[in-house]
Amino acid sequence: MHVLVIGSGAREHALLLALQRDPQVDALSIAPGNAGTAALATTYDVDITSGEAVAQLATEIGADLVVIGPEVPLVLGVSDAVRAAGVACFGPTGAAARIEGSKAFAKDVMTAAGVRTALSEVVDNPAHLDAALDRFGPPAGNRAWVVKDDGLAAGKGVVVTDDRTLARAHAAGLLDDGHPVLLESFLDGPEVSLFCVVDGDSVVPLLPAQDFKRVGDGDTGPNTGGMGAYAPLPWLPAEITAAIVEDIVKPVAAELVRRDCAFSGLLYAGLAITPDGPSVVEFNCRFGDPETQAVLALLESPLGQLLHAAATGRLAEFPELRWRDGAAVTVVVAAENYPARPRIGDVIVGAEGEKVLHAGTRRNEDGTIVSCGGRVLSVVGVGDDLTAACADCYTTVEQIRLPGSHFRRDIGQAAAQGRIRL
Ligand code: GLY
Repeated sequence: MHVLVIGSGAREHALLLALQRDPQVDALSIAPGNAGTAALATTYDVDITSGEAVAQLATEIGADLVVIGPEVPLVLGVSDAVRAAGVACFGPTGAAARIEGSKAFAKDVMTAAGVRTALSEVVDNPAHLDAALDRFGPPAGNRAWVVKDDGLAAGKGVVVTDDRTLARAHAAGLLDDGHPVLLESFLDGPEVSLFCVVDGDSVVPLLPAQDFKRVGDGDTGPNTGGMGAYAPLPWLPAEITAAIVEDIVKPVAAELVRRDCAFSGLLYAGLAITPDGPSVVEFNCRFGDPETQAVLALLESPLGQLLHAAATGRLAEFPELRWRDGAAVTVVVAAENYPARPRIGDVIVGAEGEKVLHAGTRRNEDGTIVSCGGRVLSVVGVGDDLTAACADCYTTVEQIRLPGSHFRRDIGQAAAQGRIRL
């Protein structure tokens, strides 16, 4: 099977590594990729937001399966174009990808499916902002304001704060830039990312994971696209994971079928485990980054065959997934000044090997690898338990040299020390 992966992050690097372990995968291609993925797959430079360009590439290279990593091409309907060209595609149609691309659509689907989620309100008129802020946040009984960019913002458009001035400034800035603002009620409880491979009504969950969105240790500083993750979650009882699948993901998948926009691809449920039970923070229409780097490190089942089964309507026949025992951790090495305006162009040393997944990297003509994005690398460690996986991961992180870079030192620690309780 020849698989073409679309994307350029550490998530796509992790997908390639897992696909390479599948005995039925004999060729890998990627567009546009990065300096690390070039060692695993033939690299093509196409506009990945153009369905026509991606479908043409898939046809020209004889791909048997296209796997679309990022949300933007999915929301733009690139998978529709690939399927129309007769190539199997892992990734939802543009209509189904609205579960991530349109907050209003997602809330409507969740309400119809009877799924618990945060209360929300869209503000698109600055004159209505103060009254809306009064309906959310601490005066209304919430612990904090949750202010989001209503469009796709790669996690960076989110501010969670108990400081009304900060909440207002973020919302006003978004409105000034012409972006509608989404205010949500704060969901109190540890967060879980549960990725499910979905094909219509069939839902196959992967291991639950947790990511770390704030830039600093102890969940301080601004939100980022994600600074690290670990899987599985020792503090999350299996019954809660099962309940998330049965009571949340399956009803949402069924509701999408009912609306004639069946989901085929990776449905990512982001949840908070509140005192009242799991509640949805968001749905995404693709693998999460950086959780994928940890989750796929433990997958023993053949990923290419799994994704191909989902893409061709045969997921229900796929054997139960097999996982390596133990735990996996990923730590993101970010460029100086990320998430604001990251410095780029710095030479990276020590970024070789299967434990170092590349994101914002490119190779110079002289062969050196330099940074070209905010989240530069994603280092993965595995071990018999979370403590061992953290040790494995941080040993590699410490060997990397990237001037001005920073990373969190507490990924997975609270869970490893038994400090997360429900
Ligand atoms: N880990 C957050 C995301 O992928 O959106």
